[in-house]
Amino acid sequence: MARKSYFLLAVLSILIGSGVSDWNILNHRKKNNVVSGSGLKTYCESWRINVEVNNIREFEFVPQECIGYIGKYMSSSQYKEDCERAIEECQVYLSSCCNSLKCADGKEAWIFDVDDTLLSTLPYFKTRGFGGKKLNITSLEGWMEKCKAPALDPTLRLFNEIKGRGYKIFLISTRRESLRDATVDNLIKVGYHGWSGLILRDLNDENKRVKHYKAEARKKLVDEGYNIWGIIGDQWSSFDGNPTAKRTFKLPNSLYYVS
Ligand SMILES: *[C@@H]1O[C@H](CO)[C@@H](O)[C@H](O)[C@H]1NC(C)=O
Repeated sequence: MARKSYFLLAVLSILIGSGVSDWNILNHRKKNNVVSGSGLKTYCESWRINVEVNNIREFEFVPQECIGYIGKYMSSSQYKEDCERAIEECQVYLSSCCNSLKCADGKEAWIFDVDDTLLSTLPYFKTRGFGGKKLNITSLEGWMEKCKAPALDPTLRLFNEIKGRGYKIFLISTRRESLRDATVDNLIKVGYHGWSGLILRDLNDENKRVKHYKAEARKKLVDEGYNIWGIIGDQWSSFDGNPTAKRTFKLPNSLYYVS
């Protein structure tokens, strides 16, 4: 029985991975006589965990049967606690990695993602079914223009701590250049300031895969002599490729996947 459900999960991951979106686990499980409330909950939790560890990739939207679960998780104290823990690990590493004397040469850097790392898009996704629909970029960018994204509080604390230790902070975002003013306004409004660079996608970058765009941005920094100590992001594409950082820290995000 247990073996059978593992097999089922394996098949499910493949199906979800290949973009079969309207395939409903509830219907399927009824046929196999294994459906129950807790079955769905454990299935959705395992979907979430497999997204986090980057086994499930390039999903276009949260599976329909898990929207409720993912919505609850992303609004829960568990999500906040998971972010908090990731940030605490950054702080542990930070306290061991570079004393202030060494940082004083001005070439020691940390990199942050913007959305769902510094700022939260949760208020947007709350009104859009928690990632249950294909991402509408026009509508998301419209929301970003309004500069209403709140800060992720643990990240804001870490940002200030890193800055206080004399590191240079670079923000590398998938947001487009056209959103520069809105992004700067929003960041400042919620308490971020004093970064050394905000790198956004220009027209040339839009045809590139995000992981290539981000790796190229890091290469420019390394070519300018920066030492990248850490990257904090909510997407695996923020860490992929070379040059990389000494450490990377993944924040949870079950709402969308950027490849
Ligand atoms: C995407 O959002 C825009 C702006 O809100 C809207 O006009 C458009 O119809 C949406 N597209 C789809 C496919 O839903």
